[in-house]
Amino acid sequence: MTGLRGEGRSHVPVTWVGTSWKMTKTLAEARRYARRLADAWGDGTAMPGVQPFVIPSATAIAAVRSELGSSPVLVGAQDAHWEDAGAWTGEVSVPQVADAGAVMVEIGHSERREHFGETDERVNAKVLATLRHGLRPLVCVGETAAVRDEGGADAHVVRQVEAALRGVDDPSGVLVAYEPVWAIGSRGRPAGPEDIVGVVAAIRASAPGVAGVLYGGSVAQGNAAELLAVPGVDGVFVGRAAWSVEGLVEIAYLAGRSRQVPSP
Ligand code: PGA
Repeated sequence: MTGLRGEGRSHVPVTWVGTSWKMTKTLAEARRYARRLADAWGDGTAMPGVQPFVIPSATAIAAVRSELGSSPVLVGAQDAHWEDAGAWTGEVSVPQVADAGAVMVEIGHSERREHFGETDERVNAKVLATLRHGLRPLVCVGETAAVRDEGGADAHVVRQVEAALRGVDDPSGVLVAYEPVWAIGSRGRPAGPEDIVGVVAAIRASAPGVAGVLYGGSVAQGNAAELLAVPGVDGVFVGRAAWSVEGLVEIAYLAGRSRQVPSP
């Protein structure tokens, strides 16, 4: 797909390095982060091929976009409704987050699936709405520990991906984030490459046309390089470790360096 909002039309594959701030940061903190990130990343020429992105709370999207100025860092929303407008108290639509400066929409994070009743059907409706408005969906999928223990991780995740992409004619604008539920958050167990390689391959096989498959769940400076080296992984989606500018930039630099290492 070409012509997604706010993006060039390069066909060189990029390595994605992004963070969702989840429900953290005041407006002042968000602005400060964005200003410092714009300074630290510059025009990105020091790390060609790495595409950073930041996903603030909806309250801070416009401020973050504005502070980033001409920076190539992309801004996303943590969720958006499937309808364009209407009587949906408390919700925010894709046109609204686009108006605020978002070019990506995170959809189906496991915290939303677990706590807010996000179903595969709703994830699908949100993916379709996001694409309809020319934004990039970042679809989060992942199995619980119980599903993995029963040996059902591949099938579960493939089912989530297929459901999310139902009715999508051209998936080349879609990013998938594989985030095993058991690996997310301060009580999560960080996954190793051996834990994820099979599921990533299964996602690739079931959705070969997507723009990229990212890995997320307790990614940090210490394990980003080995996770980025897993075949089929095109980037990382980071929570806590990138809630400081230094954290995000350090992981983005690790990603840039791992691109420069020729494969054996
Ligand atoms: P974490 O969050 O890096 O803090 O584990 C990841 C995520 O939920 O995407």
